[in-house]
Amino acid sequence: IPGVAWIECAVWMLYSELPSPPFRVRLVETIPVGLYESDPPSLPSISDSWLSLLGEANSSVHIAAFYFTLRATDLELTEPTDSQGRKVFDQLMQLESKGVKLQIAVNAPQTSTQDTENLAATGAEIREIDLQAVTGGIIHTKLWVVDQKHFYVGSANMDWRSLSQVKEVGLAIEDCSCLAQDAARIFGVYWDIGGRKNGSLPPYWPARLSALSSSQHPLRLKFNGVPAHVYLSSAPPQISARGRTDDLSSILSVIEDAQKFIYISVMDYLPLSQFIEPPRFWPAIDSALRSAACTRGVEVRLLVSCWQHSPASMFIFLQSLLVLNRPPLACDISVNVFVVPSTSAQSKIPFARVNHAKYMVTDRVVYIGTSNWSENYFTQTAGVGLVVNQTGTVVGSGQVTLQSQVEELFLRDWNSQYARTLSDSDVDVCSRHHH
Ligand SMILES: *[C@@H]1O[C@H](CO)[C@@H](O)[C@H](O)[C@H]1NC(C)=O
Ligand SMILES: *[C@@H]1O[C@H](CO)[C@@H](O)[C@H](O)[C@H]1NC(C)=O
Ligand SMILES: *[C@@H]1O[C@H](CO)[C@@H](O)[C@H](O)[C@H]1NC(C)=O
Ligand SMILES: *[C@@H]1O[C@H](CO)[C@@H](O)[C@H](O)[C@H]1NC(C)=O
Repeated sequence: IPGVAWIECAVWMLYSELPSPPFRVRLVETIPVGLYESDPPSLPSISDSWLSLLGEANSSVHIAAFYFTLRATDLELTEPTDSQGRKVFDQLMQLESKGVKLQIAVNAPQTSTQDTENLAATGAEIREIDLQAVTGGIIHTKLWVVDQKHFYVGSANMDWRSLSQVKEVGLAIEDCSCLAQDAARIFGVYWDIGGRKNGSLPPYWPARLSALSSSQHPLRLKFNGVPAHVYLSSAPPQISARGRTDDLSSILSVIEDAQKFIYISVMDYLPLSQFIEPPRFWPAIDSALRSAACTRGVEVRLLVSCWQHSPASMFIFLQSLLVLNRPPLACDISVNVFVVPSTSAQSKIPFARVNHAKYMVTDRVVYIGTSNWSENYFTQTAGVGLVVNQTGTVVGSGQVTLQSQVEELFLRDWNSQYARTLSDSDVDVCSRHHH
């Protein structure tokens, strides 16, 4: 339904020479408890950014999520606390009584329905999306839209652990109605699929869900004062409305566009399809990286995660990239493995204590995503990406580009005590005794 925000956005797109409104863009992260203790990072936390988005909500909140477990069910663990998650949950519980419409599109089947049942009891509308029946994948997206004006995208799940025990990176953007409207359109696709109970897709998506931004037609905005070309991409292509850039294409285009360096932080990197038998080799991203490093001389750095669920084959594939460093090829590729240390109490928390961030920064562009880098995340599973391009823009004194902020973030982790260099001769890289 076109609201005021949509009209503002439409007017502004028609007259894009108008000065862009002052969007507030914040790079946000979760640092797991105990990390960087002696030198605490300065980025705002994801939980604070969610609380502030919810505090601003005046009419609507749309959330697309893989699952909801904002409160720990198992609190015999005394040390870790779910207080950040509970605060977010409490604010969500109050929305309907404040006259704010809450709509949640969540992957089906849900493993735990406690949070969504309680929210539904307040009047929130919940739709469970069974993407398995449609594309064979899941809803892995993590996206918030508030008042069709503010939004959040990033790696954090609606999970108390994502706010205190898992390392996450996201972007919270306020007062940016065009981009928020566009994010709401991706949400709208999930909402529509969730409303059909029979696993069908419509013959075509209605125009109200068509993309407002794309690689061909990025929005021209100012991010914290610095001009930027910005667009959202989405996976898988089967559920993309008209004009939507496919998430894999956007990743490949960012890799191909790099001139000096490509820094990638992903939890899992696998040139494979994972969930089909037999698995299939899937070289799309791998080839693009080999080509960048070995034919264009671009420096490639990959920061991946090691925890008890890491696929062992990931490290072998990464070592196959490292082999290319040997002369006479001497391509410039390096891999660091990030381990989040745990106390014995923390190590008992299931599915926690890992670097779950998913982003890429080149010398020119930033990409913030929600997907692991393996085939199914781009061909079957729903995810989103945000591309911010500030190449060649004039940066005033006191201003910083998102690119330089994300580069700094990457280098902090890359050079930290938690990152170990992977060499092509290492064996047993991520065995269980590391935890
Ligand atoms: C919230 O809504 C009220 C009433 O509709 C309005 O007066 C107020 O300006 C709104 N606040 C924001 C931040 O949009
Ligand atoms: C599935 O549901 C949609 C809407 O709920 C309907 O338009 C469509 O005809 C249905 N398709 C089948 C095959 O039953
Ligand atoms: C970034 O912007 C520059 C200048 O407008 C353009 O040439 C380049 O293709 C863009 N890069 C990407 C990855 O979109
Ligand atoms: C991808 O991410 C999810 C959680 O975000 C994780 O459970 C899964 O094991 C990861 N790896 C692959 C290759 O699917």
